[in-house]
Amino acid sequence: MTYIDADEAPLTNTGQIKIYGEDAFAGMRKAGKIAAAALDMVAEHVKVGVSTAALDKLIFDFGMDHDAIPATLNYKGYTHSSCISINHVICHGIPSDKTLKEGDILNIDITYIVDGWHGDNSRMYVAGAPKRIAERLINITYESLMRGMAAVKPGATTGDIGHAIQSYVESERMSVVRDFVGHGLGRLFHDAPSIFHFGQPGEGETLAEGMIFTIEPMVNIGKPHSKILADGWTAVTRDRSLSAQYEHSIGVTKDGCEIFTLSPKGYGCWPYE
Ligand code: MF3
Ligand code: CO
Ligand code: CO
Repeated sequence: MTYIDADEAPLTNTGQIKIYGEDAFAGMRKAGKIAAAALDMVAEHVKVGVSTAALDKLIFDFGMDHDAIPATLNYKGYTHSSCISINHVICHGIPSDKTLKEGDILNIDITYIVDGWHGDNSRMYVAGAPKRIAERLINITYESLMRGMAAVKPGATTGDIGHAIQSYVESERMSVVRDFVGHGLGRLFHDAPSIFHFGQPGEGETLAEGMIFTIEPMVNIGKPHSKILADGWTAVTRDRSLSAQYEHSIGVTKDGCEIFTLSPKGYGCWPYE
């Protein structure tokens, strides 16, 4: 794998890893902050009886109010401003008129384009009160993202990130989804490198200052296997066990990483208050 100066690179995924400068970091900071603010905003609207389409509408409107274009709108035929994935849905749940029930857990994933830069992030929410096992899943998934980010620094590898996530999740007797990965992003939504949420220390791509990518582990209570429903998008656990996900967009710095999608309200893991 080769690296390329992002300022010289074509606006496509050439398979090379783009290295970004300070202007890109400033752009990602702004896009990430608005995407995180949208996740802050929806928190108080997640309630029993609310439809996921109503939440998606709030996310569209928030974008319009902040000069932020939902990146998923018309992306590969997707027609919503967010992905909302309930209970055994792993990711890419399509907002609909279906309403939330007591104890439902859901991931809301928002990507906005601001001045051409993509801010991509997701968090878990609960309608009412979760079952104890669901709350445990949410906490483990959040902690796995924190451990993945803690492995990021120049000279470390993508395998180090994956290993940090996988070894922790499996030590808690849960499983890491293999079929969806984190990704480079910037002016593109999905770019090299792929960030696997499993792996071996020292394997994969070597990280360098100026790389920008997401980490977005999906964790299942049961087995890791997924399948896509007939709508062509909704990914669910094959064994119908509960699944959770958290996602941040980050940039590699001199000695670690900068999180572009930190919550302006200071929210970390659910509950948000
Ligand atoms: N935001 C998702 C991600 O984390 C991608 C959603 S693409 C869509 O990469 F088309 F499903 F919306
Ligand atoms: Co992403
Ligand atoms: Co996302």
